[in-house]
Amino acid sequence: MPIELTDLSFTYAQGTPWQVKALNQLNLTIADGEFIGIIGKTGCGKTTLIQIIAGLMKPTTGSVSIDGQIFFSAKTDRSELSKKIGVLFQNPEIQLFETTVEKDVAFALKHAFLTSSQVKEQVRWALETVGLDYEKFKDLPPLSLSGGEMRRVAVAGVLVIKPEILILDEPIAGLDPKSQDGFLKLLDRFNANGTTIIMISHNLDALAEHTRRILVLEDGSLIRDASTREVLTDSLFLKKHELGSTQVGQITAGLNNCNLNIPTPPLTEQELCAVLFEVLS
Ligand SMILES: Nc1ncnc2c1ncn2[C@@H]1O[C@H](COP(=O)(O)OP(=O)(O)OP(=O)(O)O)[C@@H](O)[C@H]1O
Ligand SMILES: [Mg+2]
Repeated sequence: MPIELTDLSFTYAQGTPWQVKALNQLNLTIADGEFIGIIGKTGCGKTTLIQIIAGLMKPTTGSVSIDGQIFFSAKTDRSELSKKIGVLFQNPEIQLFETTVEKDVAFALKHAFLTSSQVKEQVRWALETVGLDYEKFKDLPPLSLSGGEMRRVAVAGVLVIKPEILILDEPIAGLDPKSQDGFLKLLDRFNANGTTIIMISHNLDALAEHTRRILVLEDGSLIRDASTREVLTDSLFLKKHELGSTQVGQITAGLNNCNLNIPTPPLTEQELCAVLFEVLS
């Protein structure tokens, strides 16, 4: 299910005194099985972009096509297309609204023409995939869970449709380091099985370790679309656009400041260890 954006722009409240141009003439293609990160400063248009890719808002101009089908074209069955795309919104736990965990996770299967035992099995699978015991959690009210457990239930509610494209808005923000790690490994597993993943994150370290391509937005424009290595080891670019840096990048800069000239900047912790090993020996 390749994704193609063509001359895509989006303006909120178009034609009113409050209009805001959130996306400006984006063109890009995402192939099957990619793992992409989206970065950019607050308000640059990241959430708007993923909502449009997921077909939740209509572009003001230009188009999004998924597997050759254009969202909002009369020929496209939008609900069929939507079943293949799972979206996890920013702070997804605030959207849990059913009376039990089981009902909440099953919500997306409402129109899936499954028997109740098939729904139950799929919900069990989704909960256990995110590390929650089905029997223990299924009858609990979502609002009685801890924040991290609520996040897992929200993730299960997206995975339950077994999406071919998984879009995540700041999915690890607010999770403890162990939960972050477990969640990112889960994403790696889905990606290895062919799921396309698009993840917004301010956590450049996580993006360095897990994604292979980065899109950089600034004021609604796509200012860079390149491999994760190219973008996240380009310290001048990251500094110029005030995007922060990875911890590996900071340590590398520190080593360079001590005149330990490192010819090729490492991207990941493992690469940094290899560089340090070489420098120290
Ligand atoms: N519902 C809305 N109505 C009007 N303007 C909006 C609306 N939602 C977002 N905007 C504006 O559109 C621009 C892009 O917002 P968006 O939420 O896509 O940014 P973002 O990159 O996701 O930011 P953050 O990192 O803070 O989540 C911002 O200027 C924002 O104020
Ligand atoms: Mg956002």
